[in-house]
Amino acid sequence: MIAREIKPDILSLVAIDWDRRLFDQLVPLPEGTTYNSYLIRGSKKTALIDTVYPPNTAEYLACLKKAGLRKLDYIVSNHAEQDHSGSIPAVLKQFPEAKVVTNARCRELIADSMPVPADRFIEIKEGDTLSLGNKTLSFYSTPWVHWPDTMVTYLAEDKILFTCDFFGSHLASSDLFAIDERRVYSAAKRYYAEIMMPFRVHIQKHLKKLAPLAIDCIAPGHGPVYQRPAFILDLYKQWAVAPPRREVVIPYVSMYSDTTQMVGYLIDRLMERGLSVLPFNMVGGDPGRFAASLVEASTVVFATPAVLAGPHPDIVSAAYLMNALRPKVKLVATIGSFGWGGNVISKKIEELLAGLKTQVEFLKPVLIKGLPSAEDYKSLDALIEAIAAANQTL
Ligand code: FEO
Repeated sequence: MIAREIKPDILSLVAIDWDRRLFDQLVPLPEGTTYNSYLIRGSKKTALIDTVYPPNTAEYLACLKKAGLRKLDYIVSNHAEQDHSGSIPAVLKQFPEAKVVTNARCRELIADSMPVPADRFIEIKEGDTLSLGNKTLSFYSTPWVHWPDTMVTYLAEDKILFTCDFFGSHLASSDLFAIDERRVYSAAKRYYAEIMMPFRVHIQKHLKKLAPLAIDCIAPGHGPVYQRPAFILDLYKQWAVAPPRREVVIPYVSMYSDTTQMVGYLIDRLMERGLSVLPFNMVGGDPGRFAASLVEASTVVFATPAVLAGPHPDIVSAAYLMNALRPKVKLVATIGSFGWGGNVISKKIEELLAGLKTQVEFLKPVLIKGLPSAEDYKSLDALIEAIAAANQTL
């Protein structure tokens, strides 16, 4: 780990986890991740913004030492999850005068999960400020991005917003700054889909709250620093606030190609109508890629054979994930082929999407027996017309 300057007297200390492939035993990390901590040297006081994941504590302490840190006054903790807070006990031990500065909820969560004595905390509230001499920190509560404790810290004199998970990306990179915006775009979109999207309504409020701040730089807890904040702020407005795009996501599974034939027909006809189509074979698929495809989609068509009178388990998993991630999808349909007893497929998918029922219209399913017949293709045509017509009005 090395310390690098993002502005005078402000260092970034990044633990790069090149090999991590799964977060929380759940979220795939095809490009690894980073855990970012920032060191701010004011004229009177010194503060760290967040720390790093516990396995990286030793290199983190060594890096602080190499950066010449002899005295530390504050550790600002924007979020209690241990990939950011896990090194706090070791830092407190190393710097006995340091205090953990955080909100009440974060304090409670940290105290629940690691040994930090009560007298080592300074509790702050929304809008409080903390002077480091010539630099001033202020704190803004941003709950549910993605835990109830999450907040951001603003350094007024340098116009830097430290956002921890908010605006982050799981991207192991030697780049300090987001100079390769195409690469960062993909990682940030996947990150938004998997971690932030369920809290879209909260994000809309937080974007409004932060809008009056003059921001030159966004320094997140994962991934590169944004020297062009409009890049990520505009993306979050597009993902969390703007209406969905005319995109049709098709998670599909097929056993004997009957469902594949329906999917192929659907793709071609939708493309003829100028719609974007994103098909995903869910067998052995990457749930993170599927999640990212849902960020801006207007429509999802589940395509599945019947398995023991229900959808294929990989389609069940896709529907469950979609329900949990709360995308801004407006239309849902089910198509598929069954040998016997498949008529309950769409009902089960609708049950799995119960959390979206106030925002989603369920179109008439097309469930057929065996290979699609001429009559079945007419039913698919009717579904395609319904999708095209509804997308015209978005
Ligand atoms: Fe919620 Fe990066 O931890």
